[in-house]
Amino acid sequence: MAERMSTQMPAGKNGRARNGSTRRDLRRGWSAMPETPWSAVDQYITDLLVPPDAALDAALLESAAAGLPAISVTPNQGKLLQLIARIQGARDILEIGTLGGYSTIWLARALPAGGRVVTLESDPKHASVARANLARAGLEESVELRLGLALETLPLIARERGRPFDLIFIDADKAGIPKYFAWALTLSRTGTVIIVDNVVRNGAVIDASSADPSVQGVRRFNEMLAAEPRVSATTIQTVGSKGYDGFTIMLVTKGA
Ligand code: SAH
Ligand code: DHB
Ligand code: MG
Repeated sequence: MAERMSTQMPAGKNGRARNGSTRRDLRRGWSAMPETPWSAVDQYITDLLVPPDAALDAALLESAAAGLPAISVTPNQGKLLQLIARIQGARDILEIGTLGGYSTIWLARALPAGGRVVTLESDPKHASVARANLARAGLEESVELRLGLALETLPLIARERGRPFDLIFIDADKAGIPKYFAWALTLSRTGTVIIVDNVVRNGAVIDASSADPSVQGVRRFNEMLAAEPRVSATTIQTVGSKGYDGFTIMLVTKGA
């Protein structure tokens, strides 16, 4: 199967097979091709290891009903974020890019008593869906959702806060990743974990001549990362129900 897929990879933009593949998906990229086992394996893993949860399931249903794009992390990716937060013992988490709050719920549930997630969202409709989803999950106290462009909110947070974040998840617009990464370092300490979503982009990340601002944002971020002495980082490619993409995970090793 893998061999066959590697010879059949069509050019094209990322497609998502989350809700089942369609003929249209065939033109949109390798990751959406109906013969890939990725979505079925994600389902298999999720059925085994990610028990249904009323608040998380409702967050996805309500987000879809409100017309939000189906671009939340997958259930098994949400659980990965939660596991990393727990492994690290994170009490203060920053998320850039809330959408309907699905990843926010996963992260907030990793917090010890008294811990907090600050999550940044620029779209008022996304923010209002997220607020309802977070309230339904009983997380009003532990999550602070800040409406506004992240690049306007981040300087306010830096000014207001007396302490760094333990974990930062960067998942807003991809053209902005270089600037979000710089802010993440400002808001970090030695030992902070920074995770960046969507850094492989169906493989387009290796296309230096790409005109896609998202690809250029990821590439510029990678150059910064390669030259950054204060972090130790790696990137893992992922496949699944959202297609072919990846995460960068890093540890701040010298006080940022
Ligand atoms: N983390 C979410 C998905 C986020 S999708 C999850 O996995 O469940 C990206 C979100 O970033 C969208 O809701 C989009 O409105 C928001 N966004 C885009 N540009 C932004 C900006 N400049 N500032 C803040 N949020 C932004
Ligand atoms: C998009 C954004 C995301 O955060 C993601 O995980 C997938 C897709 C997007 O803007 O298309
Ligand atoms: Mg993402």
